[in-house]
Amino acid sequence: MPRQDKAPDLRRPVIAGNWKMYKTGAEARAFFEQFQPLVASASHCDIIVAPPFTALRVCVEASRSGKIAIAAQNMHWQPEGAFTGEISARMLIDAGCTAVIIGHSERRQLFGETDESVHRKTKAALAAGLTPIVCVGETLDERESNTTEKVLSRQMQVGLAALTAAEFSRILLAYEPVWAIGTGRTATPELAADAHRHLRALAAAQFGSESASALRILYGGSVKPDNIKGLMAHEEIDGALVGGASLDPKSFAAIVNY
Ligand code: PGA
Repeated sequence: MPRQDKAPDLRRPVIAGNWKMYKTGAEARAFFEQFQPLVASASHCDIIVAPPFTALRVCVEASRSGKIAIAAQNMHWQPEGAFTGEISARMLIDAGCTAVIIGHSERRQLFGETDESVHRKTKAALAAGLTPIVCVGETLDERESNTTEKVLSRQMQVGLAALTAAEFSRILLAYEPVWAIGTGRTATPELAADAHRHLRALAAAQFGSESASALRILYGGSVKPDNIKGLMAHEEIDGALVGGASLDPKSFAAIVNY
């Protein structure tokens, strides 16, 4: 269904780049020098860049004049404490972040994150005033064994448990099928839209239909300049969370300017 069927201001598109463990401060600065002029006239969407912790300040400074929000890729749920190697929401705000990615599948698969930790982090991010970008998505095994909907239901119900409707209205949800991340294998717009519809129905059951219809759901997994248009043409897809293709200023700008 074309996007014009949708109330235009209800769900403003979001294009977010997740740099993962790439780029030093100098590389981040060089990215912004090239990227900002390329998106100077883009007013149709929110733009977010999530660099590694060590490049956060450089990115916040580089984007100060512009309209690009800076997000972290992870955080701890405690405000401070004896948690070697961790970073709190307070520290992210101090660095100038306004958003944070929570529960990325790489964190879940490689660093033992659970729906329970996603829940704690989401609550803490909201309490601190950050926008959580909460990631959900099934593995290939789960998809092939027809448990995608069950997995997404669990991730939503546990990960977003006990949020108020007001809190829920401040989150962004990212649907990232694990089998499509970094593999070059993008979900078709229809397949992504089916999952988004399921997530929106779950959101309606948890938080009411008004909250659900305002929820912005980003698709992530091998989004590239040549497939973004098809994805964004779908009314269920409100944006993209881009990994590999967000590292190059020209390719990320092409995605922003879909
Ligand atoms: P990809 O990563 O675009 O490189 O597949 C997406 C993500 O992990 O957020």
